[in-house]
Amino acid sequence: MKLVVEPVTRPLSGTITVPGDKSIGHRALLFSLLSATPVRVLGLGDGADNGRSARAVTALGGSITRDGDALVIRGTGLDGMRPPAAAIDCGNSGTTIRLLCGLVAGQRFQTTLFGDESLSKRPMRRVIEPLARMGATITGVAAASGAAHDVMPPLAVGPATRPLTAIDYVLPMASAQVKSAILLAGLFADGATAVTEPGPTRDHSERMLTYLGAPLTTAGRRTVIDTRGWNRRLAGDGFTIPGDPSSAAFLIVAALLAGAREVRVPGVCINPTRTGFLDVITAMGGTVVLEASRDAGPEPVADLVVRGPAPGLRATEIAGDMAVRSIDELPVLGVLAARAHGTTTVRDAEELRVKESDRIATTCAMLRAFGVACEARPDGFVVEGRPDRPLAAGRVHADGDHRIAMAAAVAGLVAEGASEIDDADNVATSYPGFAASLTQLGAAITTV
Ligand code: S3P
Repeated sequence: MKLVVEPVTRPLSGTITVPGDKSIGHRALLFSLLSATPVRVLGLGDGADNGRSARAVTALGGSITRDGDALVIRGTGLDGMRPPAAAIDCGNSGTTIRLLCGLVAGQRFQTTLFGDESLSKRPMRRVIEPLARMGATITGVAAASGAAHDVMPPLAVGPATRPLTAIDYVLPMASAQVKSAILLAGLFADGATAVTEPGPTRDHSERMLTYLGAPLTTAGRRTVIDTRGWNRRLAGDGFTIPGDPSSAAFLIVAALLAGAREVRVPGVCINPTRTGFLDVITAMGGTVVLEASRDAGPEPVADLVVRGPAPGLRATEIAGDMAVRSIDELPVLGVLAARAHGTTTVRDAEELRVKESDRIATTCAMLRAFGVACEARPDGFVVEGRPDRPLAAGRVHADGDHRIAMAAAVAGLVAEGASEIDDADNVATSYPGFAASLTQLGAAITTV
């Protein structure tokens, strides 16, 4: 599928509800499988990735039915999971496959997990290594990942021959997926399983497992699941999934670049582990107003609003905790940097190398396609801003990466002619209605 984007001729305007947060959606589905009571889930996103987690839930013995606007998930409890009849297809979804590894690591049956071409190239040793220390058996395909050797899907997980052992683990990389896999396995281990992370990765698992009654405590960067004396029961009435800030970021950057009469994205998750992009925008001189801040269950939400003409933006540096807190938004922040005065540097973001594509390489290639000078570094990239003239019309190959395709579409709004983005089908993994949302704001974007 190809996206064709025309430059905008007037300020954007409108109210757009983005899909439910993808990370929270995966967790609502997979954690509900472990619940002893039915869980009602409202606002699950319509992206294909969450669909993969939903199918995994039914493959492992859960059921999902619709009741009005809600999905009702009837889980198996902690001890009732059933062996899947076939290998589980995780599609493009890294969160599905890595969280599932932790979920089924302690089961007495074997689960085979596989995915599409992109997922088949993503490193899994990061979950296999700690789970093996807990006593799990996980095998995969030995392959090269960048310069290093790693293990890739398909993965065969289990069968476990004995209960898992608790570990005290220091994460070598800032990864919420790995942290969550270990915490899930920790529910099936005797004793205290501890994970210490090097940076502030998203903490949805901690919030949602606590809500369900898991024996979880967090102190600083260290989270512990201690099953000693626990009744092995998870239960909760339901989750309301807030809007996905990673999807909202495309609309917010579009509004900042094109100018906005008023662009409003209601009910977006503003968990501080996810809002690094808002802090980056502020540092660059842009204004996003947070209105109607409130709580949606365990997560804080607000309406994100952009008003007024395109601001004069200045370059910034994105590094350390800020890079972790904006990791999925860095491609579209690269587009913002392309229109800012000065040179923007992204550091400490080597994790971008192992996303749905090598996002350091694909972000730089995407920006260069719009005539922007972008230099790749081992742990990030450097963008020369050119606020004085429009971007060149771009011809981009998105490399099957949804976030590269959507970032390119946003760049196309401020280019000097029609831009074309090839290999954009995977926009459907997180935001199937993306083109329709931009159209509703007043942009001219077509899907071919
Ligand atoms: C996610 C964690 C992040 C993020 C991904 C979703 C999650 O990945 O990039 O889009 O839902 O836990 P890592 O855990 O690999 O950093």
